[in-house]
Amino acid sequence: MTLVRFFRADGTLDKEVEAEPGQRLLDVAWAAREPLEGACEGVMACSTCHVIVAAADFEKLPAASEEEEDLLDFAAHVTRTSRLACQIILTGDMKTLDVRIPAAATNWMGR
Ligand code: FES
Repeated sequence: MTLVRFFRADGTLDKEVEAEPGQRLLDVAWAAREPLEGACEGVMACSTCHVIVAAADFEKLPAASEEEEDLLDFAAHVTRTSRLACQIILTGDMKTLDVRIPAAATNWMGR
């Protein structure tokens, strides 16, 4: 069980939800009704699932693929600890995961 905490763009806590190992962070966000579009539903074609991961949690995640890095280059408000929520799969050893939803997202689909 992972306690996922979603923060707003201004850094205030929005919601805390419990999630199971194997769940995609994007699905957890959707279930929690977080404002994360995920327009391409996880096929890495949009970057609207961009989240900013807390630095301590970021280091524990498996590294992003080159494809993910390339897409993040075009995401709005990107930071050093930015990731795509569709590419983060929760594991049993993640006790907590803190992520911030950026102020705006860029959708590269259909361009
Ligand atoms: S949902 Fe489109 S890149 Fe993650």
